[in-house]
Amino acid sequence: CGIVGYIGTQDTTEILLKGLGKLEYRGYDSAGIAQLNDDGIHITKVKGRIAALREEVEKKEVRATMGIGHTRWATHGAPSYENAHPHQSASGRFTIVHNGVIENYEDVQREYLSDVDMKSETDTEIIVQLVENLYHELGDVQEAFRKAISLMKGSYAVGIIDQEDPNTIYVAKNKSPLLVGLGDGFNVVSSDSMAMLQVTDQFVELEDKEIVIVRREEVEIQKLDGTKVDREPFTAEIDESDIEKGTYPHFMLKEIDEQPFVIRKIIQEYQDENDQIKLDPDVRQAMTKCDRVYIIACGTSYHAGLIGKQFIEKLAQTPVEVHVASEFSYNMPLISDNPLFVFISQSGETADSRAVLVETKAKGYPALTITNVPGSTLSREADYTLHLHAGPEIAVASTKAYTAQMAVLAILAVDTAQAKGIELEFNPMKQLGIAANAMEALCDQKEEIEQISADFLPTTRNCFFIGRSVDYYVGLEGALKLKEISYIQAEGFAGGELKHGTIALIEEGTPVVALATQENVNYSIRGNVKEVAARGANPCVISMKGLDQEGDTFVIPEVHELLTPLVSVVPMQLIAYYAALHRDCDVDKPRNLAKSVTVE
Ligand code: G6P
Repeated sequence: CGIVGYIGTQDTTEILLKGLGKLEYRGYDSAGIAQLNDDGIHITKVKGRIAALREEVEKKEVRATMGIGHTRWATHGAPSYENAHPHQSASGRFTIVHNGVIENYEDVQREYLSDVDMKSETDTEIIVQLVENLYHELGDVQEAFRKAISLMKGSYAVGIIDQEDPNTIYVAKNKSPLLVGLGDGFNVVSSDSMAMLQVTDQFVELEDKEIVIVRREEVEIQKLDGTKVDREPFTAEIDESDIEKGTYPHFMLKEIDEQPFVIRKIIQEYQDENDQIKLDPDVRQAMTKCDRVYIIACGTSYHAGLIGKQFIEKLAQTPVEVHVASEFSYNMPLISDNPLFVFISQSGETADSRAVLVETKAKGYPALTITNVPGSTLSREADYTLHLHAGPEIAVASTKAYTAQMAVLAILAVDTAQAKGIELEFNPMKQLGIAANAMEALCDQKEEIEQISADFLPTTRNCFFIGRSVDYYVGLEGALKLKEISYIQAEGFAGGELKHGTIALIEEGTPVVALATQENVNYSIRGNVKEVAARGANPCVISMKGLDQEGDTFVIPEVHELLTPLVSVVPMQLIAYYAALHRDCDVDKPRNLAKSVTVE
């Protein structure tokens, strides 16, 4: 979910709606705003997207200089009008927007609110009802707010307004991201800086368990015990044009096309004037000192981690484990004497990954975050950060962040190898440059790839991706892209595993995308293609030049065998894109998903 708030002199309608539009990547099940003016509080909410909210808001023509807004990714309670934020206290005096999950909401309800009739099924409503009850008891809104927040367990970024006080937004944060933006005669609240760049580029980060009293002319940060906190603002360095689609029909297509430029940018950022790798010496030291790397990530970033393991083990000769963040705590592996935890996260906000960071930090283990958002929670809380330099990624399905993650991991692996005195023949910058050119060539072959998508996936319900070695990992990502945006059931399998079960699913015409970019497994994967073809499958073979055979569906340009994932994933991304387009799916905002999942 995402939240925004504005208090100032301008009308809030456009500011809140525009801000929420920028936060839609965090969820789009329902949306709402609350505006406060001399006539009282005006709440507009809808089940659905910001565009639907805009229609409703425009009908009402409310004018107000303060307000809060929310876009929701449902956790507690189905996506519905009743469960949409903002929520109100029983008398309607207090109104709240909330991102996060209150873990002890049932206990709080039982203990403090047993006589209150809840209007929604959300954990959020508990907070605002409790503020009202405590206000009756304590007689002071700030005190009631502080007390209510101190009773909450779980994650929250909240904004509360009081109908009796048009001069204050009450804000609190724990685990969920939240920034306060500063302006001249106005101040804002937002889940990220992108949403409020429209009015300011000056933001103050909030730490967990802080509350903020936001007024037109001042912002006061306090700890939960009331002590004041002084913190300097930072300047958000995002170009507003980076977060617009321009002439592209979808952000996803724009972001696929940006990949060669992102790789070139990474080369530039990680290279000094003597063509040597330029990397934070502390990261270098952490990498050489550790005896094992534990990569923690989710979704696409996890898939990049699988490739990162190959780089680090093959080049730097350091053992690597890769873990899905949400599973790590249940099946905690034996930890080596000198571990280094590496968190890979486009957003730097994924709650599952952050939970592992909190746990491993508490044990005293060092952490490096590889992220596209340097000021993000995972970046701030880890000891070191490597930046992906991919520019804002807006489409929910990740593309350029994935290739950027692999490029940075390759550079990190080579740097570590060099620091350990390992001789390498692999020149990462040169090879990444070649890969960037190959990616660019593929981006120019969209028509051909669109045709492949139309030929292989016209009406199919399912599709399999097979590969061996790193091609297997790219197949996992290809399958994830396809299922995320086209809703075709897609699975990636290791070529050799097929015969141990999955091959039972192959029927007449089942599309099977096979990747063949690795010389040492080319023969074996071709064997797997024959096996599925013999059982009626429709194989789509994507091979690399030099390893291609007659009848292959598509051939990617030749690049260094370590870097093939950066290139072979491009046709996978485009196949998924066109499959979604041909099925009239919402490419940038697929159903049920959110780009940044800030709940565990
Ligand atoms: C969400 C997104 C995925 C993404 C994953 C991890 O589920 O929909 O596309 O890969 O989160 O996100 P992160 O920001 O940590 O890389």
